[in-house]
Parts: sequence; C-alpha cells; structure tokens
Amino acid sequence: MTFDIATIRADFPILSREVNGQPLVYLDNGASSQKPQVVIDAVTQGYAHEYANVHRGLHYLSNLATDKYEAVRGIVARFLNAADESEIVLNSGTTEGINAVAYGWAMENLTAGDEIILSVMEHHANIVPWHFLRERYGVVLKWVDIDAQGNLDPQAVIDAISERSKLIAITHMSNVLGSVVDVKTICHHARSRGVPVLVDGSQAAVHHAVDVQDIGCDFYAITGHKLCGPSGSGAIFMRAERMAEMRPFIGGGVMIKEVHKDKVIYNDPPMMLEAGTPGIVQTIGFGVALDYMMDIGFEAIQAHEKTLTDYAQSQLQGLNWLTLQGAAQDKGPIFSFTLQGAGHAHDISTILDRKGIAVRAGQHCAGPLMEFMGVTASCRASFAFYNSLEEVERLVDGLHLAHDLLV
Ligand SMILES: Cc1ncc(COP(=O)(O)O)c(C=O)c1O
Repeated sequence: MTFDIATIRADFPILSREVNGQPLVYLDNGASSQKPQVVIDAVTQGYAHEYANVHRGLHYLSNLATDKYEAVRGIVARFLNAADESEIVLNSGTTEGINAVAYGWAMENLTAGDEIILSVMEHHANIVPWHFLRERYGVVLKWVDIDAQGNLDPQAVIDAISERSKLIAITHMSNVLGSVVDVKTICHHARSRGVPVLVDGSQAAVHHAVDVQDIGCDFYAITGHKLCGPSGSGAIFMRAERMAEMRPFIGGGVMIKEVHKDKVIYNDPPMMLEAGTPGIVQTIGFGVALDYMMDIGFEAIQAHEKTLTDYAQSQLQGLNWLTLQGAAQDKGPIFSFTLQGAGHAHDISTILDRKGIAVRAGQHCAGPLMEFMGVTASCRASFAFYNSLEEVERLVDGLHLAHDLLV
C-alpha cells in the first residue's frame, strides 16, 4: 500500500472534527490513539449483529464470536512474529499483562533478596507491580539510570545483573522521552546469564515492527488502545518456556478444565491465564486494528514518522525558550518539554487546547523519571502515523502563543 497521508487521515473520522472552533490537532497519541473507521465498524458489527459470550455457548452466535475472538490470537502472533499463537495471552492491555507476569510468574519464582532490574524511565505500569513484590516479599528493585540525552546504555543494564537478578523489566520506548531501548542486546546478554526479560512494548509497537523472536525476550506486552484498537484490549507474548512456568493468578470460568469440591484442574495456558468473560468486541476490534496497521505496513509508518520526528525536532529546537526533554540517538515521535521561565505544563496545555491542539500535561505516569530529570511536570506532544507536517506547524504556532501569554 502506498502511504498517502490524506487517504490515511480520511480513515479516521475524528480527525476531521473541530475542537474549540479549530481543526483538531491530536497529539496525545502516547496516551491513546484514535480509531479508524474499520475498527469502529467492527465494534458496531460485533454488538449489532454478532454478539454473544465466547468459549462457552454451542449456539451459532457464540461460535461466531468465539471464532472471531480466537482469530485475534493468531493476528497478534503475526504482529509480534511469535513462533506460535499459544504464546499469546489476550487481555485488557499492558497493565494487565505486566501484572499477570508479576502475579503468575514472579510471585512463584522470586523470594526475598532476589532482584528485579528496571530502568528509571519505566511507566508506572512497569513499576508498581514490582513494588508489590518488594512490599510483600522483600524483592529488591535495582534501578538503572539513563544519560542526560535520555539514552539507556544496554551495557549498564547488563552490568546491573548479579547472582540475585531474577528479572529485567524494561521499556522498549519511553512514553515521555521517546527513547528507544536496545532490548535485543539486553535480551541476548540476559539470556546468557539466565535472567528473563519482560519488555513493555506499549509505545514501541505503535511505531515500528516488533519481532519477539529476533529480540529474544521472554515477555512482550502491548496495549490495544494505543494501536488504533478499542480500550480494554491488549495482549502479552510469553515465550513457551515461560508460559509453561506460569501459575494461574485470576480464578474463575474458562481458565479451568474441572472444578470439584476438593480440587480444581486448570486449563492449559494461555487459556489458564484468561479467566472470566473477556473484552469480546474490544478484542475483535483490536485484531482489526492490528490488521489495519499491518496493511499500511511499518516500513511506511516508520518512514512517515521519521519525517515528522525530524521536522518536529528541528522546529522545537529552534524555540530557544523551550526546554526539550531528551534527545536520544534512537527516538520515536514523542516530545516532552517545559517553557523556560514560566508556565505550568497545565497552562501550556490549556492554551494549546484553545487552539484545538491536544497534548498531555503532567507526570506521564513516570514518577521516577520525573524525579531523575528534576521536574514536576511537563507537556508531551506525541505523534502518530496519521499526523501531518502542517500539524507540527500548528503546534509550533500554539507554543508561540503560550510563550507570549505566559512568559
Ligand atoms: C510505556 C507504557 N507502559 C504501559 C502503559 C500502560 O498501558 P495501559 O494503561 O494501556 O495498560 C502505558 C500507557 O500509557 C505506557 O505508555
């Protein structure tokens, strides 16, 4: 498919609306992406004509919904290039995926004094579940810093490995700085030292193709709502050996084969890890979204986003009253910044909003990174493949206005 930005934008009905009397410029993609018409149609179709519960009925609609739902496992496996779809757990998003690893794997395998290695730029979803283990079981969290530009040296992560290291939990792309982490090198060395690696792919999987076999990770978490899919959908890849080590962590229907008064026999993984009624239509929409992105193709997506990133970087660097956070060598289209001298991030965001420009302001669910950088809040403009160069210019115009008003 050839990448034509006007055609791509026409796939997303919301992009043609106005906000505060101005054409919308949606630059809050790091928080959640917009949805193309094919996904909206799939959700409507699911509820209007094809809805029933999955994995339990024998009637027509239940079989239809189950087939469509289960097909998504294969789509995710293809999206991540997993060796087999049995390595894919469908869930509600990255938060659930990482908690599954914390409760279903780490709690079984780690004891007091064991270490989990984290980078300082993790999202809270890849921090708080590990704090639970620290609080309850005395597991030690070992933090690895980034450099002043926001690069994470893979060697620093490898050097942090000790005899007691039992897991490395690391982002593939920072949701604040856009820094891309060389997870492949980390996984290669971690594997030779016998330390499993969980990769938080929430941001990275949106911007470039992911190959979990090439990366060599043990767990790779993605979230549907950032990938043009419905909220409440997502998946985590678990390499077959790790999947086999998983213990069930949420009990209920579907994850069992037999339940008796005195014993229970669990289903085989990955079903063992998918208790209860899932987000049925959300997951079906998630599959459509992944197919949509794969149809466009990540080569085309990456090429367009590189143009956007380079242009945004040069434009924003030209504003000498703006402090840009992070300039990693390998960086996705995510820009966090503060105004020098004045202006709380919330004020900047409010002024931009008056111009129809949506950005995020605050801590970005990254407390340790904000502490590391010595800031309490920043604004974040995060781009998607459906953003245009004109929208970069609208952002720059909006920032000039914010500067004039606030400083
Ligand atoms: C890097 C990263 N990890 C994890 C998450 C959590 O994803 P979700 O809330 O969809 O579970 C996010 C969402 O902002 C994120 O950016």
